[in-house]
Amino acid sequence: MNRHETSPDFWTLANLNPNFLRQCFAAPKFNAAISGKPLQVNSVTYAEGLGMQAPAYFFLNLHKSARQITGKVGIDDASPHGSGSFRLSGFKNGHPVVLFDSQVIYYGEAAKAFSADLTDIEFLSFDFHDNNSSSPAHVDLLEVKISYKNQAPETVPANVQLATKHANWFIGARPGKPLTQLGFGQLSFPGADDVALVTYPHRASANFAVDETLRIIQPDGSHSVALTFKDLDIVFDSANICRYIFHLADPVYPITVDWVVKTYINEDMFVTHLEITNSSAQPVTLLNRDSAFIALPANSPAWVSSFSGGWGDELANLHEELLPHGILRHQNRGAVRNPWPDWPGTIVSFNHPAKENEGEAFAAALAWTGSWQHKFTRLSGGRLMPEKLYFSAGALEEPIQVAANSTYATPELLFTYTPDGGKGQLSRNFHHYAWLGGIYNGQSERRVVLNSWEGVYMKFDEAKIISMMDGAADLGVEMYVLDDGWFGNGKFQRNDDFAGLGDWQINSAKLPGGLAGLIAAAEKRGMEFGLWVEPEMVNPNSKLFEQHPDWAMQTPNRTRLQARNQYLLDLSNPAVEEFVYKSVADILSEYPKIHYIKWDFNCSAYNLGSAQLGNNQGALSDLQNQAYYRIMARLRHNFPLVTFQLCSSGGGRVEFGSMKYHEEFWASDETNGILRIPIQWGYSHFFPANAIASHIGRYGEGDFKLRADVAMTARLGVELSPDAVTEENRATIRQAIKVYKELRPLLHSADLYRGRSPHESPLTELTFVTPDKSAAVLFAFKRNSAAKRENIVLSGLDSNRRYLITEVNPDNEPRLMSGTYSGKELMSIGIPISFPARPSSAVAKLTMIK
Ligand code: DGJ
Repeated sequence: MNRHETSPDFWTLANLNPNFLRQCFAAPKFNAAISGKPLQVNSVTYAEGLGMQAPAYFFLNLHKSARQITGKVGIDDASPHGSGSFRLSGFKNGHPVVLFDSQVIYYGEAAKAFSADLTDIEFLSFDFHDNNSSSPAHVDLLEVKISYKNQAPETVPANVQLATKHANWFIGARPGKPLTQLGFGQLSFPGADDVALVTYPHRASANFAVDETLRIIQPDGSHSVALTFKDLDIVFDSANICRYIFHLADPVYPITVDWVVKTYINEDMFVTHLEITNSSAQPVTLLNRDSAFIALPANSPAWVSSFSGGWGDELANLHEELLPHGILRHQNRGAVRNPWPDWPGTIVSFNHPAKENEGEAFAAALAWTGSWQHKFTRLSGGRLMPEKLYFSAGALEEPIQVAANSTYATPELLFTYTPDGGKGQLSRNFHHYAWLGGIYNGQSERRVVLNSWEGVYMKFDEAKIISMMDGAADLGVEMYVLDDGWFGNGKFQRNDDFAGLGDWQINSAKLPGGLAGLIAAAEKRGMEFGLWVEPEMVNPNSKLFEQHPDWAMQTPNRTRLQARNQYLLDLSNPAVEEFVYKSVADILSEYPKIHYIKWDFNCSAYNLGSAQLGNNQGALSDLQNQAYYRIMARLRHNFPLVTFQLCSSGGGRVEFGSMKYHEEFWASDETNGILRIPIQWGYSHFFPANAIASHIGRYGEGDFKLRADVAMTARLGVELSPDAVTEENRATIRQAIKVYKELRPLLHSADLYRGRSPHESPLTELTFVTPDKSAAVLFAFKRNSAAKRENIVLSGLDSNRRYLITEVNPDNEPRLMSGTYSGKELMSIGIPISFPARPSSAVAKLTMIK
């Protein structure tokens, strides 16, 4: 010892934090054997030590301040036939070094003494193994002493419990080792089965049975990336939101990964993604990059539900299948428009097909507007190993280069779990998450919109728009939205879809009073004004294309394909990204009274390719989508109070990554009330009512009351020219808007309980119940033409209270009688409703009697 140094301090087992010791069977005992008797090995009794049952392990962070460890280890005399081993390892610069290995120690042998030099050691790992599973090893760790200077050793968690109200995800995190998953679901530690599975299976891991979730081509051509745990940050963003950041590193290549998991404790939501940093001086190529890999409960059969649909029937098809052995993969290669035909969300129900209000279930949705995959891997265990079920999801593996010293973030995967609440509870978890920030301005009040599209398409002039505004104001509309057809000049006037996209100047021939005139006209009629744009596109017939033909996407050396006579702009070019941002930002800056933007996107990725990207063409869709998110983030930052509707020929772009920047989405171009029921039903699994724009339209089946009631279960609006429908129908719309405005605060914050599914029955019900269960609104729809009187059974009420029921939004054929009923009756016998002999609907308000 240097003579200027003071004598060292000592750490002993009394300083160990037992909460961080992982042991499968019981809590460890201080100064006693696990049996409760005094510590005794080979007839020698020890006063000081720790009694455990192997397997067990714990970690110390030495802060590089420790000097020396001494101690003894043995099998306790109360453990006849027991045998086990103890290994002490250190981690120096993230690499493991074995400091002591006891080899197998048997019952009846003398305790083995050990000592080791700890200079420069960062972490110390104590690992106790059982050698003979038929006779558990009671291991005694005795008289341990660690000398240190300055900073005392500290017990660090070896398992991290990512916990929400009803779900736990246990992660084994040992410094210098790969992360493991100990299970997900309703598990309680320490009963969890250690599945010893690396959290991100990759080429250098031992798990060959599942696909790689992460694959990086290193500069030397190797396809491997191996990640070991360095440390963990736990950050409470609020009392309800906790962020875990696991720092992982490849011990060989300069790749680090931050695995981020955000938990919403009350909503049982998990939001996870990876941040992959390439610290080398050369680019690496990223292939597989799943956002998450989750070991789901595997001890029961499981059913998977997925949603599909295309233009006009988005999410209207529900598929449920028993998860087979092997791999089940859902994917979409839409590149920039990904919900058609398959939507990037899934529901898993354990033990039985999904039920609305009961059963263990899991749901996930990928927040990404590009190509994606969801993968279930079911491995049967056989005689010796338990059955396993893994779920992984992420962006599809187009090769992308990650430049030197840069970071790539994967999309977020959102998932939730319920031990017993069925898929209804999963949906409510998603809705609450959306309101808490999963969608932009999740809780802002939504305006009643009249959108001009189906009323006048592009055939209008100023007088027509102003007369529509008169009609809209008379109905009680709060926001007049001028759709496509207001821009482009000269030979590029937008009078049909052959010209004008890209030229975002008002068509002064059609609208001589300009936007200022239209905004003032709306304001005079007590309404706000909104505008349609499709800024990521260009028509070949446009000033923009004449000036910048190279701004449109083009697969090198191929003929350009058109969809709806237009091309996608190439946002991998920063100048184009800036143009798109400015197209909208300039309008909003010049006209601060534009309160609503309908952001459309009507073309798929037909010409994926960019002169910008050289041999990195695989990155284009990724760069395109990231640029769109960036543009939206800038717009939201600068125009936080403008409502941005997400539209893509209807629901062609609806996913949670986009919805971070949008208040609502145009669910479908299908405005037929009856056909819209299964569409909105599909969306309701993941999105709350106030995110789903639904307009009373002029076309299709269903009387106007039914159309209005369908719209009322979402964000109600109107999509017609008021003078084109009869006064009787206008009166129905007027009445519906009045009722909707009264119910809106309840409908847009209530818990949704779905009744019968449109996939199974002509009768479908949706009940919105306030969280305290004091009020509710029931919507019942009958899609066929048979007259029917039926008791409609509700759910989600308080069975011990009574409710007053009144019909709301009635027409001249009352569907139900007012009365009081107990919650119990309503949820078992139901309320009688008479439906007329045509597709029809009924709405009832329930108020709890004090
Ligand atoms: C597609 C949208 O879904 C419609 O509502 C309308 O805005 C048109 N585009 C306009 O071109």
